[in-house]
Amino acid sequence: MSDGHTDVQVPAGVIEAASTARRVVALTGAGMSAESGIATFRDRDTGLWSRFDPMTLATTQAFEDDPDLVWAWYLWRIGVIGQAQPNPGHVALGEWQRRGTTVHVVTQNVDDLHERGGSTDVLHLHGELNALRCFDCGTAYTEPVEPGGEPLERIPPPTCAECGGNVRPGVVWFGEMLPPGVFDDAVALIEQADLVLVIGTSGMVYPAAGLPGVARGAGVPVVEINPDETDVSDLCDIRWRDTTARALPALLRELA
Ligand code: OAD
Repeated sequence: MSDGHTDVQVPAGVIEAASTARRVVALTGAGMSAESGIATFRDRDTGLWSRFDPMTLATTQAFEDDPDLVWAWYLWRIGVIGQAQPNPGHVALGEWQRRGTTVHVVTQNVDDLHERGGSTDVLHLHGELNALRCFDCGTAYTEPVEPGGEPLERIPPPTCAECGGNVRPGVVWFGEMLPPGVFDDAVALIEQADLVLVIGTSGMVYPAAGLPGVARGAGVPVVEINPDETDVSDLCDIRWRDTTARALPALLRELA
């Protein structure tokens, strides 16, 4: 696997923990996809929530008040994500699993870049952008939609063939519950893991932000991969200050 970043120093403790781990859980957030060109939420200047107001775009109330605005914003995001490619970090996680280690991905991301990077065991805590469904009755909507456009135009959502309700993206909005069972499944995976990697998340959104603490409570070694300090850094045994597309391929080289 070649990625061009041969200067990366992998901390010795990470190599040791990773080389003996048979079950790994990667807890990932928006930073995982940053090097694929998908903006994070809270990075200064570039984060989506510094440019757009989540209360008018990412709540059920927002969708009820102005479905056309919300739908257009998500069509724009579907377009951005559809054009993006998995970065070497996604590919490295897929490769690690192919080599025979059990690598569960538990992601807050609504994109499909882990799957396209080769990971087959992915839990989406915050749903999946492309899993469209009816806002009123929940029926899945499988007709193709036209991705792209401008983030703040107004485009009416398609309507449900069953009940005529508006179609919404398959993401978890602020104030909504996570998909049923997904959090408990994540906790169970973490409790059985030999190593938990916390990659590219600010650790500010609960309940997902509670998962590094679950790992710590279960005595599982926790490694953070993030260029910056986060709200969960103190819970991590090793803080590896680098980016995912640099760090993960370098780790895989060490494990080869
Ligand atoms: P945030 O935007 O809050 O945090 C992104 C994190 O990624 C920050 O800690 C950055 O330092 C880090 N980062 C940036 N570039 C990176 C890189 N190349 N490699 C590694 N790390 C990098 O994103 P999340 O923590 O995922 O929720 O946000 C959690 C939730 O808040 C999202 O799932 C979303 C949002 O509102 C919903 O949509 C429900």
